Amino acid sequence: MSSEDLVGNYNYPTRYRIGAGRVRELAACCRELGIRRPLVVTDPGVAALDWMPAILADLESGGLPTRVFSEIDANPAVAHVEAGIVAATAHDADGCVLIGGGSALDVGKCIALLVHNPGGVLDYEDVGESWKRAEGDRILPTIALPTTAGTGSEVGRAAVIVDPADHSKKIIFHPRMQPDLVLADPELTLGLPPGLTAATGMDALAHCFEAYCAPGYHPMADGIALEGMRLVSENLVRAYDDGSDLAARTHLLMAASMGATAFQKGLGLIHALSHPVGGLTGLHHGTANAIFQPYVMVHNRAVIEDRMRRMARWLGLPREDFDGVLAWTLDLRRRLDLPETLAGIVDPAQVPEIVRMAAIDPSLATNPKPCSPQEIERVLRKSITGDLTP
Ligand SMILES: [Fe+2]
Repeated sequence: MSSEDLVGNYNYPTRYRIGAGRVRELAACCRELGIRRPLVVTDPGVAALDWMPAILADLESGGLPTRVFSEIDANPAVAHVEAGIVAATAHDADGCVLIGGGSALDVGKCIALLVHNPGGVLDYEDVGESWKRAEGDRILPTIALPTTAGTGSEVGRAAVIVDPADHSKKIIFHPRMQPDLVLADPELTLGLPPGLTAATGMDALAHCFEAYCAPGYHPMADGIALEGMRLVSENLVRAYDDGSDLAARTHLLMAASMGATAFQKGLGLIHALSHPVGGLTGLHHGTANAIFQPYVMVHNRAVIEDRMRRMARWLGLPREDFDGVLAWTLDLRRRLDLPETLAGIVDPAQVPEIVRMAAIDPSLATNPKPCSPQEIERVLRKSITGDLTP
C-alpha cells in the first residue's frame, strides 16, 4: 500500500486519526473537542521546525487564539510542568495541543491535569489511589501530535516526570490523562534523523516485546503487540535507510501507539534496567532497550520459548523458534548501527546502583521470570561484556 492508502479514523484506544497531511485537521479537531484557546505544548527543537508556523497560523486563522509553551528539555521535570501551568493560566487556555516526542507530550498531559485540579504534579505519582485527588472532568481536553515513533505517550495514561529531590523519574498517572484525540501525521516525523529513528523505533519494539512476554491472560494486548512487532520488523530499517519513506513512517507511528496500548499488560527487565541506566548515564532510552533486549531474552528463555515460536511465525522468520527471534533481534540492531554492549557506557562502579534501582523498578514485577538482585546483576554484567551465553 502507498502512503495515500494508509489513512484511518479509530476510536480505540482513544479517538485516533492517522495519515499523511492530517495535521491540517487540527483546528477542526480543536473545535470538535470544544477547545477555543489552545495552549500548544512543545519543545524548543520542535518549535523551531519549518512546519510549525503553518500549524500555528492554521489555528489562528481558524479563530483559535493560540499560545506556545516550549520551556521543556529532554528530561521533563516538575519545574517544566509548573511553568506550563502558569502559561496556561495566563492564556486562559481551555485545552492543550501537544506536539513533540515523549517529553513534550508528558509535560503537556500533566499541565492539562493540573491547571484546574489541586496539588502539585508529584502528588499524582502512581502510588495507591493518589489519582483520585483529581476530578477527571476538570482535566483540560488534549490533542496529541507525536513527532517521534517510540514512546507511544500519545495513547498513554501516564507521564514520566523527574523529581528534583533525588533526580529519580516518577510515574504520574490518571486514567483520564490519555489524550482525547491523537493526530498521527507521518509528515511530522520526516525530519527525525536516522539515529533517533532507530532508537525510538527500538523503544516501540521493546514495548511490544515486553508486553507480549509479560505473564497473565491478556490476548488483546498480545495480539496488538505481535502486529506492532511485525510493523517494526517490516518498516524500521526502511525508515532508517530512507527517512522520507512516508509509508514506513506511518507504520512506525502506528507501531509506537500499539506498543503503548499493549504495555498496559506490563513491561519487564529490559525497561527495569534501561530506566536507571538512562538516568545515570544519559543513554537514550531506546538505545538502552536495544542493548538489553537480547540479554534479557536469554535470561527469560525457559519461560518464553512457546511465545517465541508464535512470534517467529507471525514475523515470517526463517527459523521459527527462540533462536530465530534472537538472531532477528541481533540482526535488526546491527542494521540500525546501534551499540551491542554497554562497554564504555556503564562504568563497572555504577553496577551496584543500577541493580538496586532496577530491583525496585515497577516494570520488573511483570518480567516473565522473577529476578533476584543477583540475577539482575548477572544480566547487567553480560550486557557490558557482550556475553549471550545462557
Ligand atoms: Fe520505553
